[in-house]
Amino acid sequence: MSKSSYFFQIAIDGPVAAGKGTASRLLAEKINFLYVDTGAMYRAAALLAIENHVDFSQEDKIVDLIAKSDLEMRNPEGNKEMDGRLTTLILNGKDVSWAIRTTQCSDGASKVATLAKVRQILVEKQKKIAETTNVVMEGRDITFKVLPEADLKIFLTADLTIRAQRRHLQYLTKGVDKTLEEVIAEVQERDERDMNRQIDPLHATADSWILDSSQLNIEEVVALIADKVEVMIKEKAKHS
Ligand code: DC
Repeated sequence: MSKSSYFFQIAIDGPVAAGKGTASRLLAEKINFLYVDTGAMYRAAALLAIENHVDFSQEDKIVDLIAKSDLEMRNPEGNKEMDGRLTTLILNGKDVSWAIRTTQCSDGASKVATLAKVRQILVEKQKKIAETTNVVMEGRDITFKVLPEADLKIFLTADLTIRAQRRHLQYLTKGVDKTLEEVIAEVQERDERDMNRQIDPLHATADSWILDSSQLNIEEVVALIADKVEVMIKEKAKHS
């Protein structure tokens, strides 16, 4: 059975701080799909490396750690998990939803994400998840690598300065002391790393809907996508 005959797949790619996480989470909630934050899986790989004292460059050891681990991702549930997180990630029975958000994990994630075998094992896991349920899956390679046959592909982006301003605001609320200029440089550096890496560099596919959120708030972004999905689901039902 081809995937398109069964579960509905929404694939969202885009640069850092474009609002992919929040938009995907809210969209998933609205249409009752599973939100899959693939960045969280690269972060979990980095956490495994840190906890096991493995250097971020040791590809085979990291792959081995991932292969031996149990990784579960779900929408937050119950009062305990309503603490501002976008997704709940259980790694070997432990809730690591916040542990993967440290600067150390963020930095490690961007390093382990350059390793071909790490990407391969995580992409396989992501494909498997999408075979079992309707998903809003978000990352940097979803539209062309993980779910190339997704029902809806979106490249969510925004101007560099606007993305940096949003990130700067997030930092301020978390008490992180950085100037806007520093954040612009940081976002630019992340863009360059994501778009110029050797394996699966981030890009917008020809069949992606390029959604520029520079002039939109998050609710407007979610409403635009949800409207489109509603029409598509009705169409799909008619033809199945
Ligand atoms: O979206 P994020 O910041 O949580 O992602 C963490 C790192 O993983 C980031 O450096 C980009 C990388 N990543 C990736 O290479 N491919 C994905 N599908 C998702 C994230």
